[in-house]
Amino acid sequence: MKYRRVGKSGLRVSEISLGSWLTYGGSVEKELAKKCISTALDNGINFIDSAEIYAHGEAEKVIGDFFSQGQYDRKDYVISSKVFWPFNDQDVNRWGLGRKNIRNAIEGTLKRLQMDHVDIYYMHRYDYTTPLKETMMILDDLIHEGKIHYWGTSVWTAAQLERANAIAKEYGLHKPMVEQPMYNMLFRHIELEIMPVAKTHGMGFTVWSPLAQGILTGKYNNGVPKGSRGDNMDMVKNRLTEELLGKTRKLSQLAKQHDLKLNQLALAWILRRPEISSTITGASKPEQVLENIKASEVVLEDALWKEIELVLDNAPQWPETYAPNVYFKDIMR
Ligand SMILES: NC(=O)c1ccc[n+]([C@@H]2O[C@H](COP(=O)([O-])OP(=O)(O)OC[C@H]3O[C@@H](n4cnc5c(N)ncnc54)[C@H](OP(=O)(O)O)[C@@H]3O)[C@@H](O)[C@H]2O)c1
Repeated sequence: MKYRRVGKSGLRVSEISLGSWLTYGGSVEKELAKKCISTALDNGINFIDSAEIYAHGEAEKVIGDFFSQGQYDRKDYVISSKVFWPFNDQDVNRWGLGRKNIRNAIEGTLKRLQMDHVDIYYMHRYDYTTPLKETMMILDDLIHEGKIHYWGTSVWTAAQLERANAIAKEYGLHKPMVEQPMYNMLFRHIELEIMPVAKTHGMGFTVWSPLAQGILTGKYNNGVPKGSRGDNMDMVKNRLTEELLGKTRKLSQLAKQHDLKLNQLALAWILRRPEISSTITGASKPEQVLENIKASEVVLEDALWKEIELVLDNAPQWPETYAPNVYFKDIMR
């Protein structure tokens, strides 16, 4: 396993990490979930991602129970959680990034995790109803109290990241160190603006659904396996178009020609970018954790990278008139 810095912070995370959305406290029963976590930690993963909303707190409880058994020292691992989504429909303040909700949310998260701090606390979406300075002031307090070590954003726009960094500078507050967006071979919009802006501010990226919820393992190439996420969830099933499967079949072939599996090719493709700190994988079985960890050994040769791009044919482009190399073509020659 290799480790990378989270942006320009002093925190290091395994380049493959493990998330708990839909699985732990949810579709995967508790003992199997703990086996997935121990397999991850035994094989070099040091970063576990969660959120208060995952299985309505149950995912955090599974992680908390796991560490409370005492076999693994919590201090050796990076644990993250998130706040934003409504946690209690009866309480108008129990959602969003206001001071009161963040205070309530972190107390609940730490209780369920049975920990005194989380290493990274993500703002799970941008809250258009709360002044960003209010959010950043309570996060700054939590850092000073030792309840969170770093804060991050999730699915924020480039303009919102700019604003947060400007407020941090203006008021001397801690700035966001990491953004958590969706990023995989099939969904790569962040390359255009979000990546360069975050990089400018020394932020790293811990990316989610790196395997497009399993599609980029090739498991749906010849039908939907029983019990898979695609079998159980429409949001995956509906994406399985002939066009997309045509690409994944070609990518599987390409991986095979290079003695790789598609999941490893897909994760290595993400890790080709130095902006990436970690790919947060999901796993319903310990074997999947082991399969995914192998991607950390894969280095994409330029020729293979180019072959992949030809199959994907989806690199995000600036409109011709805005593209810097078109606009400045005389000076940039
Ligand atoms: N910030 C956000 O808004 C946000 C949103 C989504 C996710 N996340 C984070 O990102 C994490 C990962 O997201 P994700 O679960 O969508 O990631 P993913 O790695 O793209 O998909 C995980 C699923 O793919 C299948 N899979 C994984 N490895 C496999 C392998 N080697 N062979 C066959 N199947 C395999 C498993 O599903 P089955 O076995 O059930 O088919 C597994 O549960 C989440 O747990 C969460 O921590 C964050």
